[in-house]
Amino acid sequence: MPLIVTLTLTPSLDSATSTAKIYPEGKLRCQTPVFEPGGGGINVARAITHLGGQATALLPAGGPTGAHLVELLQQEGVSVDALPAHDWTRQNLHVVSEATGEQFRFVIPGAALHENEWQQLLAKIAQLPADSLLILSGSLPPNMTTQAVTELLQCAKDHHLRCVVDSSGEALKAAVAFGGLELLKPNQSELAELSGQTLDQPDQVVTAARLLISQGAAKRIVVSLGPQGALGVDAEQCVQVVPPPVTKRSTVGAGDSMVGAMVMKLADNAPLVDMVRFGVAAGTAATMNQGTKLCSKDDTAKLYEYLNQPQ
Ligand SMILES: Nc1ncnc2c1ncn2[C@@H]1O[C@H](COP(=O)(O)OP(=O)(O)OP(=O)(O)O)[C@@H](O)[C@H]1O
Ligand SMILES: [Mg+2]
Repeated sequence: MPLIVTLTLTPSLDSATSTAKIYPEGKLRCQTPVFEPGGGGINVARAITHLGGQATALLPAGGPTGAHLVELLQQEGVSVDALPAHDWTRQNLHVVSEATGEQFRFVIPGAALHENEWQQLLAKIAQLPADSLLILSGSLPPNMTTQAVTELLQCAKDHHLRCVVDSSGEALKAAVAFGGLELLKPNQSELAELSGQTLDQPDQVVTAARLLISQGAAKRIVVSLGPQGALGVDAEQCVQVVPPPVTKRSTVGAGDSMVGAMVMKLADNAPLVDMVRFGVAAGTAATMNQGTKLCSKDDTAKLYEYLNQPQ
């Protein structure tokens, strides 16, 4: 079984609380906060752990917030490889207004990553065994450019790692330009931005994904379509997976849960259709949970079983 390692360059210690009502000027007295780990790659590793798999979350962790984040991950059973960092790990804040149920999500810039820390992260990646799966998900630190994406992918290529990318904007563009990815997971609007086209119909989505594959961007692309599920494309085939209707509570974490599930199937060298079905099952399972909760193993298994039945 290959190792699965997720890299999060801008991890966060997320705190969630609520207050009676949100209004300006006065003091908004809040409930005792609940802390949770946050950041793209971190959530992918958590989703894999929730689903009964094994993944290591590689991240820079700085200050007491970084130490708290690492402790939370360890409590959840996620294996962590934390690089001690100079700048404190950021702390995001999620506040619910009890009067209206509205959610306010305050996102703080990620901590800067210093050059020596970046080199140490690259050195850790260079030490991974060949064929390990490296998942790059989440944003770049504010002091880094997309050149870092290229450097990272070059380091992974030199050491024969298989890279999975879930990103957006310029970082996604840089990853696609580098090419050779094992799996790319854009949503519909990320793919549209990448292709410079509006993609309204499934066949336009498939054509855009096929073009990227023929250009060597990735071996397979799974385009997630929110409640419509996902389209998976590789050089030979195209599969569409539509989830059954479920009671949606919160879509936060759907994308990360989906990536986690798909990476587990990649590690098993499963066929494309199994990977997309398991991904959609986990993404949809995540939407059945409140707040920032990721997919549960039970809901994912039930949805996967449903998607595996002849439709
Ligand atoms: N409203 C929904 N109902 C059912 N399933 C959903 C819904 N929204 C998302 N999903 C599931 O989650 C998967 C990923 O969702 P989506 O396409 O929204 O990804 P994303 O835009 O990358 O999400 P994120 O905002 O978490 O990054 C979908 O393929 C689907 O299986
Ligand atoms: Mg996403």
